Amino acid sequence: MNDDLYFSNGNEVQLFEWAFAQHMPVMLTGPTGCGKTRFVEHMGHLLSRPVITISCHDDLTSADLVGRFMVTGGDVIWTDGPLTMAVKSGAICYLDEVVEARHDSLAILHSLTDHRRTLYLDRANETIKAPEGFMLVCSYNPAYRSSLKELKPSFRQRFVTVPMDYLPAEREVEVLLAEAQVDRAVAERLVECAGTIRSADDVFHFEPPSTRVLVAAARFIAAGAGEMEAVEACILAPLSSDGAIHEGLREIAAAHLSTSSDISRRTP
Ligand SMILES: Nc1ncnc2c1ncn2[C@@H]1O[C@H](COP(=O)(O)OP(=O)(O)OP(=O)(O)O)[C@@H](O)[C@H]1O
Ligand SMILES: [Mg+2]
Repeated sequence: MNDDLYFSNGNEVQLFEWAFAQHMPVMLTGPTGCGKTRFVEHMGHLLSRPVITISCHDDLTSADLVGRFMVTGGDVIWTDGPLTMAVKSGAICYLDEVVEARHDSLAILHSLTDHRRTLYLDRANETIKAPEGFMLVCSYNPAYRSSLKELKPSFRQRFVTVPMDYLPAEREVEVLLAEAQVDRAVAERLVECAGTIRSADDVFHFEPPSTRVLVAAARFIAAGAGEMEAVEACILAPLSSDGAIHEGLREIAAAHLSTSSDISRRTP
């Protein structure tokens, strides 16, 4: 398994490179497990920039981002937070699930994400101009919008937006082959099965199965699980806990998968 291996799904690599060259921040949107994190890591390698990831949540304060004064051995010293470290070192700062953060915590990003490219640390009385290599990347999953959380237009419009989605079937098969030791026929069956469930998600009303869960199922099969067993544990059970829905999903899966476990693993 290669953590940097990324299969592109359109022009996202080019868009990211243009944004980097023009010192513009990027907003990635897309469903869970479609490759957002993998893409940012890949771009970090491609552009030779370290990636500093911050997972956003509703208790995140601007001090958690920029830093705070801390008491150590009787002294009070300023300690940089991950955002400040990323700006100073010219890294790619990746704010994951940014929609989870409170608006007042994100306000600190405004001066960094416009022509100023500057971080104002009022408390430390410091002004940091972002170097060439610094880039801000945010991501969120628009499908979770039911949570009443929305990004402000004044925030969203600062970013170049790159919408991401699951790969087309042939490319998703390649991801499974790269990430798990299974035969192509197995990978194809898993992707077909996911395709059918995805196209029925209007009926089921849940987030469709991601590339992540397909990789998990493929790895289970490579480890010795039967196809139905792997799909049940790695794909169907995480999707829904509703008994009737689960039964419907099992029928879809059974129609696609092989019931014999010994033909599933890749012959060495
Ligand atoms: N385009 C891709 N190329 C290579 N691997 C991929 C790709 N898309 C998904 N994967 C596989 O799916 C897994 C999940 O991808 P990733 O963690 O990047 O999803 P994500 O979009 O960040 O999800 P989340 O929103 O839940 O954080 C990866 O570890 C990788 O195995
Ligand atoms: Mg992610």
